[in-house]
Amino acid sequence: MPTAKIAPSLLSGDFANLASECKRMLDLGADYLHMDVMDGHFVPNLTLGAPIIKSLRKHTDAFLDCHLMVSEPEKWVDDFAKAGASLFVFHIEATKDAGALIERVKAAGMLVGIAVKPGTPVESVFPYAADLDQVLIMTVEPGFGGQSFMANCMPKVRALRDRFPDLDIQVDGGLGLDTIDQAAAAGANVIVAGTAIFGAADPRAVISSLRQSVEA
Ligand code: DX5
Ligand code: ZN
Repeated sequence: MPTAKIAPSLLSGDFANLASECKRMLDLGADYLHMDVMDGHFVPNLTLGAPIIKSLRKHTDAFLDCHLMVSEPEKWVDDFAKAGASLFVFHIEATKDAGALIERVKAAGMLVGIAVKPGTPVESVFPYAADLDQVLIMTVEPGFGGQSFMANCMPKVRALRDRFPDLDIQVDGGLGLDTIDQAAAAGANVIVAGTAIFGAADPRAVISSLRQSVEA
């Protein structure tokens, strides 16, 4: 299994102090910074876009894991590449031609991932998985932080891990100390957590525990 990566979701951070929140998470042991991009159309919430990534990039060399919960993700490839995004993760439900989009993201110089909503069969990503840097199995309906982990998505993680032993498999939604073991046992190695990290009295300890659970 690939190494554990812990990705705090800045959606739970203070957007008015984004650069310092990112630095704080890196200092506490984060591997990735998970940036939730929402367009108010693919999901019923509105957050941030490429201009914020561009501004943030001036303050950090960190790995910016951009989760695009947007319709027509094709429209934003060039903007995110120019802004300095490290990884461009689009939803398979949002595109008509995932294969072409993968190639466009790579040509623009970013790593590429596909996300699937809880109701979307994992088999939909199998044809592309060998060309991807990451697959994101959503464990809540995308749109908001602070929702409950959906354990019924774990068979999707397991099915993906069994077929693709070296793939980075990310889980996102409701991950924390009480749910990490289920995700780790199913084969997830990239762990997004918003509420569980930002809401903790000791976020360093939470990041460390999440990592230990994946590596156990
Ligand atoms: C939800 C986002 C998540 C969210 C996770 O649509 O994709 O990244 O911030 O938040 P928690 O960890 O609080 O469930
Ligand atoms: Zn996310």
